[in-house]
Amino acid sequence: MQIIREFGPLRDALKNVRQTKNILGLVPTMGALHAGHMHLVETAMSRCDAVIVSIFVNPTQFGAGEDLDAYPRKEAEDAALLEAAGVDLLWAPTVDQIYPEGFATNVSVSGVSAGLCGGSRPGHFDGVATVVAKLFNQVRPEAAFFGEKDYQQLAVIRRMARDLDFTHDIIGVPTVRDTDGLALSSRNAYLTPQQRGQAVALPETMQAAAGAIGNGGDIAAILDAAKAKLLVSGFHKVDYLELRNADTLENMTVFANPARLLAAAHIGSTRLIDNIAVA
Ligand code: PAF
Repeated sequence: MQIIREFGPLRDALKNVRQTKNILGLVPTMGALHAGHMHLVETAMSRCDAVIVSIFVNPTQFGAGEDLDAYPRKEAEDAALLEAAGVDLLWAPTVDQIYPEGFATNVSVSGVSAGLCGGSRPGHFDGVATVVAKLFNQVRPEAAFFGEKDYQQLAVIRRMARDLDFTHDIIGVPTVRDTDGLALSSRNAYLTPQQRGQAVALPETMQAAAGAIGNGGDIAAILDAAKAKLLVSGFHKVDYLELRNADTLENMTVFANPARLLAAAHIGSTRLIDNIAVA
């Protein structure tokens, strides 16, 4: 597997790949790869002739005081995993290959970026949309793969791709969970053993709330009770726990399909997110 850090060599490598392979899949990541990322890679490999994974810890999607400096960086281990999985290329650009001197462009997607993580992390989705648009233009894949774990991010990227005429497929891949139900995330590495034990309250509480909503219960009362439950289960702050239309992400006060329950909550210094379908 070639590891490429500059755009010129990337273009040459892509030209080579395209001589024999028609369908190129892109899996954008920020590294610190876990089984959830590897599931994205496996899905891409099952649907494409060649797969390129990008690893770039994108500074513009981190707000002031967030974990940009602490974000886990494990490129050697990541590269070994990707090589063993049979990935063709690893695109690991330096910061100037994404944001060259004088970079002055911002991709901002209104509507789906508002509220939820967009409310508690102002500017986050501009950073995501901008870097993903760059990666799409640099790689020009036939398909790009993103985890449903970052559900709002997936909605922002789908909207951005439609609006900017990126014609390749955007594939959402279901969340991979630990055996107890906690969604896999690079940020789970920050949890102490005690916090890791408590963190399972997030998917458990969400499952219970989703069941109650699906059974016709009072949405506001169910969500209030679920937030209170999280706050006595080890979480000290709930950024949001909301029922939204699964396609448009518009707020939902009367249950109708398709619906998605989305949450973000803090345990210790770690902010966890999750989302599940409500049926
Ligand atoms: O989901 C992520 O890892 C990142 O937000 C992404 C899509 C790679 C953009 O930096």
